[in-house]
Amino acid sequence: MSKQANGVVSRRAFLTGAGGAAAAAAGLVALGLPAAAEAQAAPSVPWPLPVLNPDVARDAGYFGYWTNDPWKNTNYGCAYGVASALLASIRSALGPGSPWDGLPLEMFKWGKTGCVESGTLCGALAGALPIFSLAAPASVVEMGGDLLRWYQETPLPSMEMDWLDPKRRYPQQAQSVSGSPLCHISVSSWCKVSGKLSGSTDRKARCGKITGDVAKMAAIILNRFGSSSKYVPIYAAQPDLYAECVHCHIDAPPPPTPDGVRLNNSLGISNCKTCHPDAAPVMSKK
Ligand code: HEC
Ligand code: HEC
Repeated sequence: MSKQANGVVSRRAFLTGAGGAAAAAAGLVALGLPAAAEAQAAPSVPWPLPVLNPDVARDAGYFGYWTNDPWKNTNYGCAYGVASALLASIRSALGPGSPWDGLPLEMFKWGKTGCVESGTLCGALAGALPIFSLAAPASVVEMGGDLLRWYQETPLPSMEMDWLDPKRRYPQQAQSVSGSPLCHISVSSWCKVSGKLSGSTDRKARCGKITGDVAKMAAIILNRFGSSSKYVPIYAAQPDLYAECVHCHIDAPPPPTPDGVRLNNSLGISNCKTCHPDAAPVMSKK
């Protein structure tokens, strides 16, 4: 695709290369909206992906977490940390003029504290997933699935950043396995294991390190995708722990079985047992 010196894909390349977007822009014109909207449209995906250094991404993620958000006068947090680390690595490898130049970091900070402070999806994960979409639009589910699986099943935080930050020394912190991609469950299970409060600086340090750990794993996943057109997952589709649940509650119903217990009434690949600990592996039909 031809690019201008400043990296913006030329209007001609844009119109010939991105039919859907061009049609959408034409629609804007038809609606009487300014044609400028068309000229400023972002380059079509996938965006180019260099080989990343996962350790560099990790350290940048850690420090990105602590970066001060002048709008709120507190640290930017996990989602911003991961996104800024990946973007910095990508931009420095590609040099100026890549489509990645145009993404403002401010657009990632909503992920902090489990997405708008709701304790839902861990923001570190939320910071990586949009980058996956832009680099690998056809493989974001498989790549994101690997990131979430790794996050749920790995004792975190790692000790790799214990001596990184001269201003904050929290070595040898307790590790926990979240069993869930949710901020609330991840933080609570760590607080239980460590005996620390969720409002403590120890907990913040833990989340800072997890921001680094997630940035590193995201870089590993991006490298695994590389310049391929299809991502080959690291993990098998479902962990044993809840494959059985998925079989009845998520998989599309097959032709009726004698006992008729395929429900297809749930969605997602979270570990069901974290929230339904008492659910029997196979629940018999009453
Ligand atoms: C063989 C199929 C099957 C498997 C495997 C299975 N379930 Fe169920 N599950 C059912 C049926 C049938 C019901 C009852 C549905 C109803 O009565 O509406 C049910 C009900 C439930 C309910 C509703 C609350 C309740 O207690 O009635 C939850 C939650 C649930 N299952 C979670 C799970 C989880 C978690 C797993 C894996 C550990 C799992 N199920 C495995 C078939 C299954
Ligand atoms: C983050 C927590 C969480 C996770 C993870 C989770 N659930 Fe649930 N689930 C809930 C809550 C909360 C409800 C609604 C309250 C209830 O009925 O227990 C619910 C409801 C359900 C129901 C309907 C229950 C009913 O009363 O009939 C089913 C079936 C179910 N979940 C299955 C699953 C399966 C299968 C998985 C794994 C793929 C899963 N859930 C993972 C929290 C969770």
